[in-house]
Parts: sequence; C-alpha cells; structure tokens
Amino acid sequence: MAVRPIVRLGHPALRAPASPVLKERLGDEDLQTLIDDMIETMLAAGGVGLAAPQLGLDRQLIVYVVVDPEKTPAQADKRVLVNPMLEPLPGEPVYDWEGCLSIPDLRGLVPRHPAVKVHALDREGRLVEFAAEGYEGRIVQHEFDHLNGVVFLDRMRDLRSLAFSAEWEEFMIEGEKAQVG
Ligand code: NI
Repeated sequence: MAVRPIVRLGHPALRAPASPVLKERLGDEDLQTLIDDMIETMLAAGGVGLAAPQLGLDRQLIVYVVVDPEKTPAQADKRVLVNPMLEPLPGEPVYDWEGCLSIPDLRGLVPRHPAVKVHALDREGRLVEFAAEGYEGRIVQHEFDHLNGVVFLDRMRDLRSLAFSAEWEEFMIEGEKAQVG
C-alpha cells in the first residue's frame, strides 16, 4: 500500500466525468491495490472520503469512512463504492460545512439531499443498495460529485460562507469539524 499524490483544483481530472470500472477488472490485483492506496491516502490526508479523480484517475471509484464518534477514522469501517448511482430521497436540502482534499484549507456551507439511496458495486463486484443519510449521505454525495467533475464550490448557494479553515474555526464555528473529502 502507498500514499499517492492528491491532485488539486485546476487538474483536468477534477472537471471530467469518470468512466465506469469493468466488473471483471475488480479481480485484478492492480485495481485492488489502487483501492487500498485510496484508503491509505485518504487517511494520511485527514479526509473522510476520496474519489479516484482526486488521484488524477478516470475511474468511478469512491472510498469513505463510516464516521463513528467512538472510533478514529483509521479504526472506523471504510466503504468502497464502484460505479455508484445515487437516488435522492425526499426532503428539504440540508446545509452543512464541507471541505475538499483537492481544494485545501477552504470550508463552505453546502446544501445536500437529507438522504440518498445508493446503488453500487462493492470491491468484490457484489451489488450493494442502501440508504445513506446525515453525515454519511453528505460524504457520499460529495464524493459522487467528484465522479461527475463537480466540486463543493459548485454546489454552494452563497460564497460568503467560504472561509479558510483557521479563520473558520476562529470566527465561524468554534469546536466543530467539517467533513473533508
Ligand atoms: Ni472533495
């Protein structure tokens, strides 16, 4: 396993739709190594989610931490989604703070669906379907956007909430943490 470099805003991979992964390819060692590297890279960077385009790769692949207040991100379960599709579940948009490993040091308020139904393959190629809500739903929506060339800045309704993380912590939301993916 290895930590790989994360590309930043301006890299074309962050603005291009990613290609699906062929199910048969999930048996390949290099793809399984990539998934392990994505998890290691995400944890090393202090994020709770990472999408393959953030490594400059054209693949519909997401990893994220199933955040558990009792556990560190390294201890918590990790989920791998291959070729995900999201189905928004009904409800008013919910605003919360987000950041992005490809847009370092910025935080902003982003509206998201309160819950989504996820249809995807897991890393073994099995079909998974589940509802993701709250923090998990937000992470999934943020990472899914990366597979479509969309970043959280595009989703913001009011850029006045945009802040550098130190100023955000000092002036805007003392003591809380933003999701960074
Ligand atoms: Ni991101």
